[in-house]
Amino acid sequence: MALQKLVLLAAAMLARAETTIEERQAAAGPEAWAAAHSQAAAALARMSQQDKINMVTGVGWDKGPCVGNTSPINSIGYPQICLQDGPLGIRFGTGVTAFTPGIQAASTWDIELIRQRARYLGEEARGTGVHVLLGPVGGALGKIPHGGRNWEGFGADPYITGIAMKESIEAIQSVGVQANAKHYIANEQELNRETMSSNVDDRTLHELYLWPFADAVHANVASVMCSYNKLNGTWACENDKALNQLLKKELGFQGYVVSDWNAQHSTNAAANNGMDMTMPGSDFNGRNILWGPQLNNAVNGGQVQRSRLDDMCKRILAAWYLVGQNKGGYPAINIRANVQDNHKENVRAVARDGTVLLKNDGILPLSKPKKIAVVGSHSVVNPKGMNSCVDKGCNEGALGMGWGSGSVNYPYFVAPYDALRTRAQADGTQISLHSSDSTNGVQNVVSGADAAIVVVTANSGEGYITVEGNAGDRNNLDPWHNGNQLVQAVAQSNKNVIVVVHSTGPVILETILNTPGVRAVVWGGLPSQENGNALVDILYGLVSPSGKLVYTIGKSASDYGTSVIRGDDNFREGLFIDYRHFDQARIEPRFEFGFGLSYTNFTFSDLTISSTATAGPAKGQTIPGGPADLWETVATVTAVIKNTGAVAGAEVPQLYLTLPSSAPASPPKQLRGFAKLKLAPGESGTATFNLRRRDLSFWDTRAQQWVVPAGDFGVSVGASSRDIRLTGMLKA
Ligand code: NOJ
Repeated sequence: MALQKLVLLAAAMLARAETTIEERQAAAGPEAWAAAHSQAAAALARMSQQDKINMVTGVGWDKGPCVGNTSPINSIGYPQICLQDGPLGIRFGTGVTAFTPGIQAASTWDIELIRQRARYLGEEARGTGVHVLLGPVGGALGKIPHGGRNWEGFGADPYITGIAMKESIEAIQSVGVQANAKHYIANEQELNRETMSSNVDDRTLHELYLWPFADAVHANVASVMCSYNKLNGTWACENDKALNQLLKKELGFQGYVVSDWNAQHSTNAAANNGMDMTMPGSDFNGRNILWGPQLNNAVNGGQVQRSRLDDMCKRILAAWYLVGQNKGGYPAINIRANVQDNHKENVRAVARDGTVLLKNDGILPLSKPKKIAVVGSHSVVNPKGMNSCVDKGCNEGALGMGWGSGSVNYPYFVAPYDALRTRAQADGTQISLHSSDSTNGVQNVVSGADAAIVVVTANSGEGYITVEGNAGDRNNLDPWHNGNQLVQAVAQSNKNVIVVVHSTGPVILETILNTPGVRAVVWGGLPSQENGNALVDILYGLVSPSGKLVYTIGKSASDYGTSVIRGDDNFREGLFIDYRHFDQARIEPRFEFGFGLSYTNFTFSDLTISSTATAGPAKGQTIPGGPADLWETVATVTAVIKNTGAVAGAEVPQLYLTLPSSAPASPPKQLRGFAKLKLAPGESGTATFNLRRRDLSFWDTRAQQWVVPAGDFGVSVGASSRDIRLTGMLKA
């Protein structure tokens, strides 16, 4: 269809009062943006300069119902816009679902659950009148295992993060809510995040940190949040390279860039280098205002062109039109509305299917044990109240999410002990509890139990809160509250120990694994409000575990080759983060990226590879996300997975590519495909991996293009990044 016709079609859809979700999705893309921009241009013509300044400047900290607010512009029927955290639910809501964090969603490797989660999130945003939901998180990517906010994102790999970004953005926007991809870019730690520079080389920037944002732009994300840090010496929110050259030109981003809260440092440089909206509009004292009247003066004085101010507004308006928020009927802002519906079902499913079984000598699944014991302060709800710590800034009681602006209130909380007690009552199992982390007296509680379930945690969050000496980033990768000693004490008098770990990221498990009597380790991750229910589902085999790690669990913290940096971070590890580093440096992880056990077994067979890939650069016309041909499927790989065990289960076959030797030094293997197959005993299914041109490309720093290298690509399909079951080749 000719582009013009598509533009007309998209414009017609956007103008009609009620478009369906399917129509809106079909209308998304370059044509939809073109239509939205032409509507924006028409509205802009009716705005005064003061209206324009108001549109791009937040009303000031703590001056409106949401964490970010702009003023209404009555002449064009533009409402007061509400921007609200965050990536796992509506912050400060009292009738909202506490969805699972991004890291848990990614650990399911289940596109349907990821999509459903985001769709429900979008519905809750809409129901509370939130126009812009401040998520999903595509960075921190998690190059530093201690990184405080890694859990808000989707794991230490750009490919799975990118897929999760795309699915989440499409789902949020399908219900008429603007998504926000954050934090752009290279904001990998909390320490000094507001002063440090992330100095990242061009190839690493493209292949790791920009990658998920390309997915976000390709998914037509409405807005992007520039981060607190500097990139290569210049603040991210006034960085011409990051905002104008990469995001808007190279990726063809049509929406707007909003500052992280108080991440703006200048009036003119921010405006001229690509920032489009400032939040919250003042500093946190409400005093220092960099846009508002200042921007007005700069425009009048010619330091900022009028056309730049117009461009900011057009982008903001276009995003508003794109998702159909102009159509009326948008619910009034009411953060306290009850919008939970049946969304807890998704929380339970993600909590359960994102749980990773790390070790099992056969003790699991449990079957009507006579007696169980439950141990640890993290097995019960925080005695002070499930929402007693501001922004979840404490580590007391069962853990469901990390702390900071990306946390929400729990509507209810089912802790491990709550759910285990319910199950024990139904089974006639005797249950005992030791609800502290002290080793005193624990041995009496656990002795004679068929299963002694010890719950340990590790927590992290955003740097404005320090919890037990951890200023956002973790000080170490050990279990908190003497978790190792607690497990050892339990194992002294019980040889049926099941360790459950709830954590924001990798924990060194060597002590626990070396303790005789530890028979199973269940990685519960961050299961939010359905913590205990999800755990019972797994422990009792209601569902076979099917989660897989989205980061590496090393044998020691030093094995990662990265850590929190004081001062500027030169990203010396380059492309070699997480499993890319363990593979390259030939370090044996304890549990590799992509690892996870099941109660059944799967075989892999019948690898097929077909390819039309040609070596050379991508040259297509730029669409949202970059050159159009980067996004075309150029090769398809299939494999047959069979459930050969006795129970139903789900396997996550993963495809890793090895670039040909003609490419410059590259990670030995990179994730480039995955699928989740739910299979009954004896059943087989086919996993299909579509490889896009970008999946075969590296960033050629000299040509400044994505290039498919000539030669043989290694294709590895397996059950984890190290459990490779099938190998083959494809040529370009
Ligand atoms: C700062 C955080 O970095 C960002 O993620 C959040 O959206 C804003 N604060 C608003 O709370």
